[in-house]
Amino acid sequence: MHSTMTTVQNLQAIITALANEKGGVGKTTLTAIFIAMLARLGYRVLGIDLDPQGHLGLLYGYHRITIGESVYSILLKYKPDVLSGPRAPMKRVLKKTLVDSSGRIFDPRQPTGDGLDIVLRKVSSQEQIETIVRAVAPDLLDNAAAGPFPASTIWYSIQQKITAALHYCDEQAFEADETETYINDLIVKETTGRYTAETWQQAQERIDAEVWTLLQQRIAESTPGPDLLPINAGAGEADTDLKKAHEYWGGQLRHALHRLQSDYDYIFIDCPPSIQSLTINALNAAQFVCIPLTPETLDLEGMVGLLDVIEQAQRQTNPDLKLAGIILNKVQSTWKLHQDGARDLRSWEGAVRVFNTEIKRNSPVVTSISNQSLIVLDQQESDYARAYWLLLEELLAVIGGPAQEVVSQIADTIRKEAQIRKEKKQAKQQVKKIEEVTASRKRA
Ligand SMILES: Nc1ncnc2c1ncn2[C@@H]1O[C@H](COP(=O)(O)OP(=O)(O)OP(=O)(O)O)[C@@H](O)[C@H]1O
Ligand SMILES: [Mg+2]
Repeated sequence: MHSTMTTVQNLQAIITALANEKGGVGKTTLTAIFIAMLARLGYRVLGIDLDPQGHLGLLYGYHRITIGESVYSILLKYKPDVLSGPRAPMKRVLKKTLVDSSGRIFDPRQPTGDGLDIVLRKVSSQEQIETIVRAVAPDLLDNAAAGPFPASTIWYSIQQKITAALHYCDEQAFEADETETYINDLIVKETTGRYTAETWQQAQERIDAEVWTLLQQRIAESTPGPDLLPINAGAGEADTDLKKAHEYWGGQLRHALHRLQSDYDYIFIDCPPSIQSLTINALNAAQFVCIPLTPETLDLEGMVGLLDVIEQAQRQTNPDLKLAGIILNKVQSTWKLHQDGARDLRSWEGAVRVFNTEIKRNSPVVTSISNQSLIVLDQQESDYARAYWLLLEELLAVIGGPAQEVVSQIADTIRKEAQIRKEKKQAKQQVKKIEEVTASRKRA
């Protein structure tokens, strides 16, 4: 593998992979948060989802089933010279993301034809869709009022039935007029005569137009998030398919990033929870690798295997690769087990860097995600969000790049504010003590 791999030149973007064989340690969440923070500051950032689970893509509004061509299809399909050549096929699958005024992330493409869940994520709220459907199709309200489902759900379920019926007609090789009759009958039946195919189509067009207007408004009020290279579900077969397709399968991503590197300041790669061909691709493409883990026995055990693989990549295929450090994540500070684990890891210091900032296990991080946001976007002032800035400062001190200074300033402000809060709290406690002493003297 080593002998044929060309050295990537004109380095610009700093490429960092987040890897750990252990699942659930926070690789994806940390990747998503780092790229969100750097994009927020105006840096050119790319997140690469290299995990067939597609969670990084999902956090940014792209689904692995509906995404179509993805980073994986490109790695699978093209030879190294095409990947790093002037036509740069990777650029084709790049996706934009946006962050709206309430800190929610979405994909800005026109939603027509997508499922209800995807449309909802784009236009922001169920209420907005409901209002549109009720305005366009007031006669559906009778049904909606009678049953447990909102008008928009009834609308989309009929839409899905039509799509399935069209598929059936196609399979049966129906003539155009047969299909028309079949669909018309279906709509008349489903809407108990309120709609025909023609009036349904007209109403659908109005709904699409209104949703599109709403999306345009949301886009206008949003700021750019990071760019994204999502992955498609087929990447689950990477270990067989990628190896079958390419003799030197481990260098595909490195070649593919060749042309993209000058377009970005930072590139972060989210790896799958196993050491397989996609993780190897990430380790061969990156300059730095970060290992998130919770300080528990199994995590520490898993890390040893990963360290071997990193060393092997450094020796054989990617001498530029450096271990940036270990991130202690999801730490439960009241658990003795975690305290001991963290202390043991830190005692290795010197062999492997462990970042000082620990990310505590906390529910607001998860709540933000379920709200299609990230804690650093929708709860910027919380201590939990602030911890990620302190961590990013430490990470940038290792990997470098243009954001280092501004992130240090932000971290300084956070530390100063924390100090002020601490002093205020101490002063309050002091006053309380004096009051207590005075009161007890009075009583005496
Ligand atoms: N600081 C935190 N506190 C509590 N929960 C967290 C925290 N960070 C992440 N999580 C949650 O932990 C779970 C695992 O996180 P995540 O998906 O980022 O891990 P992962 O290493 O990428 O997992 P996988 O190996 O499956 O890809 C998610 O449900 C996530 O919301
Ligand atoms: Mg993950």
